Amino acid sequence: MKKIIVILIVVLTTSFIVNAQKYEGLADTPPMGWSSWNKFACDINEAIIRDIADKMVETGLRDAGYIYLNIDDCWHGPRDENGFITADPEKFPSGIKALADYVHSKGLKLGIYSDAGRKTCGGRPGSFGHEYQDALQYARWGVDYLKYDWCESEDINPQGAYNLMRDALRAAGRPILFSMCEWGQSKPWLWASETGHMWRTTGDIYNCFDCTDEHPGWSAYGVLQILDMQEGLRKYAGPGHWNDPDMLEVGNGQTQSEDRAHFSMWSMLAAPLILGNDLRNMSEETKNIIMNKEVIAINQDKLGVQGLRFMKEDGLEFWFKPLVDGDWAFCILNRNKEPRTYTINWLDFNLTDEEVSKRSTDFDKIDYQIYDVWRHKEVGTTKKQLEKSNQIEIQGHDVLMYKLSPMSK
Ligand code: GLA
Repeated sequence: MKKIIVILIVVLTTSFIVNAQKYEGLADTPPMGWSSWNKFACDINEAIIRDIADKMVETGLRDAGYIYLNIDDCWHGPRDENGFITADPEKFPSGIKALADYVHSKGLKLGIYSDAGRKTCGGRPGSFGHEYQDALQYARWGVDYLKYDWCESEDINPQGAYNLMRDALRAAGRPILFSMCEWGQSKPWLWASETGHMWRTTGDIYNCFDCTDEHPGWSAYGVLQILDMQEGLRKYAGPGHWNDPDMLEVGNGQTQSEDRAHFSMWSMLAAPLILGNDLRNMSEETKNIIMNKEVIAINQDKLGVQGLRFMKEDGLEFWFKPLVDGDWAFCILNRNKEPRTYTINWLDFNLTDEEVSKRSTDFDKIDYQIYDVWRHKEVGTTKKQLEKSNQIEIQGHDVLMYKLSPMSK
């Protein structure tokens, strides 16, 4: 009997340790914020981060929903004599705790970056062998978000490594959103919904709409290339666990059409919206894109269903995303460099989302009000447009994006 009780205790405690939970309720809708990487790479310091915090408030970005201010790679100094990680004393002389306090005083949350391997991609100390210590340090500093990368990890098991850090974060006792950056190599969508709140699905994005940047051993991808790699993944995402097609390049130099298309597609994908441009110096055009409330609402829709590509034709793609209250987001993406005209016949778009929401568009039965989210105006109803030909023009590398709401509701 005694033996059985001992075995029972061992089994119960180990299963408790093994099954530490990620923090729930931190990502019911896709996380929104800003990260230093796409614009600044390793060239960061505390003055920049403070300026960005100020700008996130002044520009209205925080109030539009962008609440995470994420320091990416290269903030690290050495480990101290006890093995605790410190901040780079030259770039972050006041330390991360002071920065977190400042960021919190602005009504924002602070994100930080580490790596499951021995070194980060920028060559700073990784968390391997220091997971619990690092999680504890982040919690003490008041960090709210951890992006956990995958460099120098060749001999490490991804599931083990990410679950270990999840458990360490849990043990540290502070709710910290866990953003997994394993580049999709072990198909984290198949195993990570209990591990992280979001997982990268691909290698790195880079600032180009339609290109691939080849390097020995790795590649970086343009917007369209990353979009294509999301095929088949929508059923794995949902509230609390999102596919992450990487951070935004909006405002980093692509054309206004391309930026609009990029932002629209990330919204249709229910992707985390992590900005990557220099907020200290932003054009009105960029602001109008990243602060478009209707497009953000499509991304943040409470149903949390990733959009689906229904059809492709002549370089055009037709996307639908089911929204709450019977609404749908509808987006035509023009992948061509040249403009295209297209005549919409809504009956061609009768579809049922068998895979995820089980919802149908029912254009033969339901009349929808059409709202153009980029032109900010009602443009008729689906019934009226069935009666007369509805020819539209879409610029090259641009989108047309509507919100459709049932008239009868
Ligand atoms: C990897 C990640 C990027 C960025 C860099 C930092 O490449 O995928 O998003 O964090 O590391 O070095």
